[in-house]
Amino acid sequence: MRDGLLPRPQELTAASGTISWTSPIRLRVPVEWRSVAETFATDLARAVGWMVDINGDGPWDIELRHVEDCVDEGYRLAVDQTAILEAGDRAGAAYALTTLRQLGPAQLWSSTRSPLDSFEVPRVRIEDAPRFAWRGVHLDVARHFFDVATVRRLIDLLGAHRLNRLHLHLNDDQGWRVEVPGWPRLSDVGSRRRSSPLGHDDDGLDDDVAHAGCYSVTDLAALRDHACARGVTIVPEIDLPGHAQAVLAAYPQLGNSPEPLEVWTRWGISPHVMNVSPAALDFTEEVVRFVAGLFPSSPVHIGGDECPTHEWESSHAAKRVMEEHGFVDARQLQGLFSARLAAALHADGHPVVAWDEVLDAEVPEDTVVMAWRSPSKGEEAARRGLDVVMAPMQFLYLDWLNSAAPDEPVAQAPAPYVTTWEKVYRYSVIPLHLEPEFHRRVLGAQAQLWSEYIATRDHLDYMAFPRLCAFSEVAWGTATTLDDFRPRLEIHLERLAAMGVAYRPLDPV
Ligand code: ACM
Repeated sequence: MRDGLLPRPQELTAASGTISWTSPIRLRVPVEWRSVAETFATDLARAVGWMVDINGDGPWDIELRHVEDCVDEGYRLAVDQTAILEAGDRAGAAYALTTLRQLGPAQLWSSTRSPLDSFEVPRVRIEDAPRFAWRGVHLDVARHFFDVATVRRLIDLLGAHRLNRLHLHLNDDQGWRVEVPGWPRLSDVGSRRRSSPLGHDDDGLDDDVAHAGCYSVTDLAALRDHACARGVTIVPEIDLPGHAQAVLAAYPQLGNSPEPLEVWTRWGISPHVMNVSPAALDFTEEVVRFVAGLFPSSPVHIGGDECPTHEWESSHAAKRVMEEHGFVDARQLQGLFSARLAAALHADGHPVVAWDEVLDAEVPEDTVVMAWRSPSKGEEAARRGLDVVMAPMQFLYLDWLNSAAPDEPVAQAPAPYVTTWEKVYRYSVIPLHLEPEFHRRVLGAQAQLWSEYIATRDHLDYMAFPRLCAFSEVAWGTATTLDDFRPRLEIHLERLAAMGVAYRPLDPV
């Protein structure tokens, strides 16, 4: 479906006629990209039961070539008797195959076997590359845990949209979601909450249903490898020193309060934070490095958002630490965590990402700022010489309502906090007031799926799609007009339907 490619490629030249394909597809691939071809073969086998003969005898239906003159993640595709796909890296090779699959019928995306005798691929030449290097999606697995199969499927969906970062928010006040050797109570105690809010948190009601879940090291390694085959990098986040109540339920000595705490059963921001003792800093470094080590060389997110300082302000121990460092504001204490984590992670070879509150204290060198409170936080970071990922809640928080219609399911906030897919599509990754000399600081953008009000896979689909379809084109850098996009989106939704995605239907125009 030449007219339904999504995200839209940078350049497409149509020729007349089509090429007819039947099983088996004969595919030639350089050995270093064999796993990319195998993933394509698995997808086609699942969708239509076809065979892909990899590196057997020619002539070839598809020939993948490793070339030197493609930019990062870029590719060229020319469909003729043989479809020639050229790329300079694995991601580009994977995207070339994804685009080729989009040129066929929606059935090629089916998640259940849907037999097909043959199909036609239009003759076409495509030259494509992303405008932005960071095209991310964030998933909060702390407020609601999503099992490995659901995360794996989300990774597949990212790959289908040429999105390349999955940011996993692995802990919060309401749950800790990764096993860490030496700290068994994180998973034994911290990963289970007694109850959750019923309806909206503001209603003050409890469901009295326990919610629990935790990834093993093996689970995360499997997700990492699966993501790699799809051209997706997992960015793990451990969010401390705020959002720490699940940690403090497990290890109260790391907190400031003499009262025992439970894993929090309400949404919002717990006032309970890590203390600033050497033991708390050591713990934080140890667990963050451990989790980071499961994702060698990946960027690691050190959180750092919404850390209330009341407990530090009334703590003698924290006051002493402030005096030692000559701090005048308790917020500067948070800088002890960011500095320590950034140094350790950089030494281990990880780029470091933090929420934009990191701007409130001294920012460790080379920290990538994730601007969430507003686009202006991204401008501020860029002007301060820092790289930025734009994730402003006003445009890219997909836990906000899909529309102002009264029958929308309960979401983070009531109308007017609405983010339609149209609003996402019109979003400009480069902040409007940012001077051109700082544009290169903007690495890209990221859409957020906070999960206080997203408890099931179907509801995740509903909140994510079609807004992520719109987002993928914005992040790829080929967004046009709503009138141009909507027909392509309608074609693309047939692919999502084939994949079994419970997307939110479009409103009639
Ligand atoms: C955030 O939404 N607290 C990053």
